[in-house]
Amino acid sequence: MKTALITGISGQDGSYLAEHLLDLGYRVVGMMRRSATPSTGRFAAIEDKIELVAGDLLDQSSLMRVISDCQPDEVYNLAAQSFVHSSFTEPIHTGEVTGLGVTRILEALRICAPKARFYQASSSEMFGDVFETPQTEATPFHPRSPYGVAKVYGHWATINYRESYDMYACSGILFNHESPRRGLEFVTRKITDHVAAIACGEKDGIALGNLDARRDWGFAGDYIKAMHLMLQQDTPEDYVISTNETHSVREFCEIAFGRVGLDYNDFVSIDPRFYRPAEVELLLGDFSKAKEKLGWEPEVTFAGLVEMMVDSDLKRRLDAGAEIKRGKLPESLA
Ligand code: NAP
Ligand code: GDD
Repeated sequence: MKTALITGISGQDGSYLAEHLLDLGYRVVGMMRRSATPSTGRFAAIEDKIELVAGDLLDQSSLMRVISDCQPDEVYNLAAQSFVHSSFTEPIHTGEVTGLGVTRILEALRICAPKARFYQASSSEMFGDVFETPQTEATPFHPRSPYGVAKVYGHWATINYRESYDMYACSGILFNHESPRRGLEFVTRKITDHVAAIACGEKDGIALGNLDARRDWGFAGDYIKAMHLMLQQDTPEDYVISTNETHSVREFCEIAFGRVGLDYNDFVSIDPRFYRPAEVELLLGDFSKAKEKLGWEPEVTFAGLVEMMVDSDLKRRLDAGAEIKRGKLPESLA
């Protein structure tokens, strides 16, 4: 039985990856930092099947202890301060966790388990002010946020450990991926949760920032499969994981409100507080390499993703006793 260590187990991707690795027969160890209110909700359904250990990307000794205790075959470094907007107000913390944290865990691995295979959660945010469209593994980086800058550092640290110490270390350059487990501050989940609240009469509108930003949005449940595949190859390499489609925030709103029979124009307002000091206007990936070498491709479509998220936010409310006050119930929930 192989052992996988997942940092960021309490996050969106951590929970999907843990489920996938359990299905494949892995022993799964999940690392969590100490918190007054531990966030175990996303993996509640599998909590008794995984081992939870305490560790923090800010604390080198905790990483050494975790790795030497569990002796992983594979390490998935998903932990990060991952919200781009917050990285502008907490740039130093973001650099410490999202950037330097990668070197801390690579050092712990080099010393305590150098044969372990390492996955780094790199990001399409590194492309930033894009040099070319679509973006591939060969596209140069031009990050536009402290988060993007930190991810570029973590990306190159991973390559550097691979080249310096012959470690099996690789990065997935993942484009935006969403799900019903997405944090409420990210634009997709913010929209779908508001759509459900508006339909149930709990809210009257939603304030957003740049509706014209375009992203290549996929489903997290598809993307975590690619992470696992990257660690099963003969040689460690970096891969773009995307859908090869780009859509605007406005299009996301159209489909999300349309799902409950509403017109987004009646409910969306613009609030400059949600604009960023520097914006990433367009992301569009090309996953050809992953398709060819890993045999990976996404399954959930853009519209399917939006509808899955709206339905989930609506169902949670209906199960708690709420009723539709505006628009209509999607047929799938009737
Ligand atoms: P997420 O939901 O924000 O989860 C982040 C995780 O990191 C949480 O479990 C969080 O724990 C943990 N964490 C934060 N600071 C930590 C620290 N100092 N020490 C240990 N753990 C810490 O993110 P996600 O969407 O699952 O994304 C997973 C990874 O992929 C992240 O590295 C993200 O930057 C990257 N990525 C995401 C996307 C995307 O579209 N989702 C795209 C490309 C790359 P708490 O619960 O304690 O906060
Ligand atoms: N969060 C948010 N809230 N974003 C908004 C809003 C709003 O009210 N209104 C418009 N947007 C725009 C943002 O300006 C951005 O252009 C786009 O919606 C997406 O924002 P987020 O959902 O916050 O995601 P992100 O693209 O900045 O970052 C996500 O994807 C990266 C991969 O490209 C995160 O998951 C990162 O961790 C990830 O690396």
